[in-house]
Amino acid sequence: MAWRIFKYIKHLFYFRHRKGHGIHSPYLFEFVNGVLFNSQGTEAPEAILKEHHRLGFKHSFVRRSSVSMKYGFLLYRITRWFQPEMIVELGTGMGISTLYLSSGAPETPLHSIEGDRERANQAAQLIVRLCLGPVSIHWGEMSEKLEHILPLIPERFVAFVDGNHHYEPAVAYVRKLVERAGEEAVIVMDDIYWSRGMHRAWKEVCSWPEVQVSIDLFHMGILLLRKDLHKTEIKIKF
Ligand SMILES: C[S@@+](CC[C@H](N)C(=O)[O-])C[C@H]1O[C@@H](n2cnc3c(N)ncnc32)[C@H](O)[C@@H]1O
Repeated sequence: MAWRIFKYIKHLFYFRHRKGHGIHSPYLFEFVNGVLFNSQGTEAPEAILKEHHRLGFKHSFVRRSSVSMKYGFLLYRITRWFQPEMIVELGTGMGISTLYLSSGAPETPLHSIEGDRERANQAAQLIVRLCLGPVSIHWGEMSEKLEHILPLIPERFVAFVDGNHHYEPAVAYVRKLVERAGEEAVIVMDDIYWSRGMHRAWKEVCSWPEVQVSIDLFHMGILLLRKDLHKTEIKIKF
């Protein structure tokens, strides 16, 4: 815990790349400025925000373990901007992050994996209630279910990795996703400072040759794979 607080305080000083300052690639500038810092003024759908509020009030799991509205809204902007051919989510929980991911690209198939049966059920009900697009919740052990859906994953996908926050599984999941990925894929990892193990996993995946740009927002990390980007590791106070 003390390690995490120390890392967080250190992270607060990373103003350098805020709003794209000092970033030379137009693609990356647009991503940081337009998507991360929302210079395009995109609004998340009111219905999603209301549902998040309502479920957060009702369930301590949502308050404790789901993405915050700020980061949910970021996931929404990411899928909205990239318009991937598929969205993959590892760790559905009760479906809060699923709502944001899917509503950014409502026509895009989304496959989400959850090991807890009750949560998987609740997420499925939530999706039906809000009439989200083609979302499939896969209930079962993450690595097993990931193996099943891997062959379906196209090169251009957005993945959100938010389950089983330990070094080995985190590295293994991201490795499998990177092996499927083309240059246009985007992989978002949650809780990259959740523990020393998770942070080690983050540092390791950032070092892989396929990963061109890694963006460390403290609570989340984003990996971009485009080959025309220079290998860069960016920390941003988000
Ligand atoms: C942090 S929660 C996900 C929260 C969700 N992404 C959100 O923001 O609303 C992580 C989820 O991953 C699931 N999980 C963890 N390890 C798993 C495993 N090995 N197999 C399947 N699910 C797992 C947990 O049951 C939990 O619901």
